[in-house]
Amino acid sequence: MQYHLLHFKEIDSTNSYLKNTYRLLDNFTFVSTDYQSKGKGREDRVWQSESGENLMFSFLIKNEELMKLSSILSIMIAVEVVKEIEKYDVNNVSVKWPNDVLINDKKVCGILLEGQVPEYLVIGVGLNVNQKEFPDGLRRPATSLSLELNEDVNLDELKERLFKNIVNNFSNPQTDAYLDYFREHNYLLNKRVRVLINNEPFIGEVVGVDDNFCLQILSSDMILHIDSGEIEIL
Ligand code: BTN
Repeated sequence: MQYHLLHFKEIDSTNSYLKNTYRLLDNFTFVSTDYQSKGKGREDRVWQSESGENLMFSFLIKNEELMKLSSILSIMIAVEVVKEIEKYDVNNVSVKWPNDVLINDKKVCGILLEGQVPEYLVIGVGLNVNQKEFPDGLRRPATSLSLELNEDVNLDELKERLFKNIVNNFSNPQTDAYLDYFREHNYLLNKRVRVLINNEPFIGEVVGVDDNFCLQILSSDMILHIDSGEIEIL
């Protein structure tokens, strides 16, 4: 399956680039960069990454069938990242619903989904690869592949494999396989959490993931099925 690749030495944000130019570009156009001057995280946060050390990319989805999966695309990408990381013999890699990848409780990858269905979607991925030091005061401690492995990783090889796997697997998405993988790597399983539903707080224990990739939280005698939002671990 074909894909298009653009690489910039520096850009404001690969997500912003695709959001501004999607009309002119094809499905599966990937944009990567060495450095972002205005990298974006979720909830209007800033995504900072040392120049040339990490993988930062976004790709465009215009395919109708894939856009129907918009609610689970972040998890699908997180699973692709976990599979790639596990090839390096790293243990304790997990998906923190809805869209982070962790190694040993530390964040190694964040995912930002933007766009307007049915027109287009942009999926942005920031994966810490060779960065060794991270700023103090991050919401969650960060790590990188090289910190976990004690050696640097070839960024170009990792990027090429990941892009090819994404394109191949997203061209014919096996959602059951993604669900199984997510269930086996669910960071929040058995954790006590607090979640806001329509501004009402619920406290409970994560007991699993349902067939629609919603998080199941046992709260009092109810099982809540959560399909979006932020979860706070207690
Ligand atoms: C998060 O965890 O808050 C999501 C971080 C997403 C960062 C990536 S880096 C490439 C792409 N371009 C951006 O501006 N953000 C995403």
